[in-house]
Amino acid sequence: MEKFIVDGPAKLIGHVMIAGAKNVALKALVASLLTDEDIIIKNVPHIRDVHLMLEVLGHLGKHAALTGSTVTITKNSSHTCTVPLEVGARLRTSSMVLGPLLSRYGKAIIPNPGGCRIGARPIDRHIDGLKAMGASISYTSDDGYFHAEAKELHGAEITFEKNTHTGTETILLAAILAKGTTTLHNAAEEVEVDNLIDLLQHMGAHIKRTGKREIVIEGVSSLHSAEFEIMPDRNEEVTFAVAAIASTGDITVHNSRRQYLGAFLEALTKAGGGYEAIDAESTRYFYKEALTAVDVTTEIYPGFMTDWQAPWALLMTQAKGESVVHETVFENRFTYVEELKKMGARITYFDPDIKNPEEFYNFNWNDRPVDTHQAIRITGPTNLHNAVLSINDLRAGATLLLATIIGSGKSYLYGIEQVDRGYEHIEKRLCALGAHIDRVTEDAIS
Ligand code: EPU
Repeated sequence: MEKFIVDGPAKLIGHVMIAGAKNVALKALVASLLTDEDIIIKNVPHIRDVHLMLEVLGHLGKHAALTGSTVTITKNSSHTCTVPLEVGARLRTSSMVLGPLLSRYGKAIIPNPGGCRIGARPIDRHIDGLKAMGASISYTSDDGYFHAEAKELHGAEITFEKNTHTGTETILLAAILAKGTTTLHNAAEEVEVDNLIDLLQHMGAHIKRTGKREIVIEGVSSLHSAEFEIMPDRNEEVTFAVAAIASTGDITVHNSRRQYLGAFLEALTKAGGGYEAIDAESTRYFYKEALTAVDVTTEIYPGFMTDWQAPWALLMTQAKGESVVHETVFENRFTYVEELKKMGARITYFDPDIKNPEEFYNFNWNDRPVDTHQAIRITGPTNLHNAVLSINDLRAGATLLLATIIGSGKSYLYGIEQVDRGYEHIEKRLCALGAHIDRVTEDAIS
């Protein structure tokens, strides 16, 4: 087991290159299952989830070679339709192989998906969509697998009751080789979905966004080889922006996609954080003045993303006044709060008065455990101090790592494999900006 030992405080200054988007890379790898021809994907981040997905592809009969940040995926002589429990249960997006396997081989057996511990995270919306396309899918709790079969997937009119990012992508991946036309209503608009569509079009798929939250897919009989570069990770950009300002530092981010960060930049400007466009793909984030409290409510695209609320809450511990973070997408994304409180943060939970929570929230209201809350109040500014912390999910992990960098004294962070799931060489990049972080294996210090 590894942990981080962090010596704070540090002011982060310098330049950083944003890596490829995790939430595109994983789906791009799944897309390679739609053809036997070679797929070359560039700008793939070196993160744990990508390595797990490469393992999944290997089990399904693909050969994937990662050289630098380029993955070349070729076909093996044979294939299987089963994702082993051991790898699949650790990677939520492994369930997305359902579409390609059903449309190409008529069969898929996948474990109940794992991933970040940020709520129940069911895949009922994905399953309902695939059933509408002719798949029969059953879940057996005695083996923990979904068993799916389809003689032939056919086009369908599918309306998602609520937004689902990977649900939209799962149905896209299923509909491309299905017979006929599929129309997705209330489809997700996240830019990562569009980047995946772009790759699929390069492979020969017929997909169009035909209206607000509507996608039409005309099934084709086969796809072909493609070479594609995935977009930079906008969640990583937000992480480094917060790192700069919370540490009273100054970081220029390269491979910036600030055009997709509108809601974040608006809140940042209101709070008094500095940012400046250097050129089309570089943005400087810097401490400009004492921060003031600003409330945020997470929303689907183009709103303030749920992935940004944890770093935002950290930033607000440094702002004067009381701010509110209201989480509406997931029912349990405040696992970092108790940890920040150990460092001296002043945060309390509450539940905003929402008239129709069943409709208002993006998660299924019935999945919500009774003892969770959807909002927090942060009172700042606070001088954070050292602590021993544990990480429960990816964005919480990056946030707690930043907290220990700006806090005073020596902190110990456990559960860092969660951070490795989504951030490439995170401690090396933060150390290059002035942080003091050691990655230590438990055995080495006993
Ligand atoms: N939901 C259901 N049933 C479904 C699908 C979703 O109840 O069948 C619920 C979820 O539990 C959640 C809400 O609906 O409460 C929204 O879920 P969505 O499907 O939109 O999220 P996701 O596809 O599971 C992706 C990203 C997340 C990101 C969200 C929101 C990937 C691999 N994951 O999750 O990224 O926060 O969309 O944009 O693309 C991360 O990178 O750390 C991460 C969690």
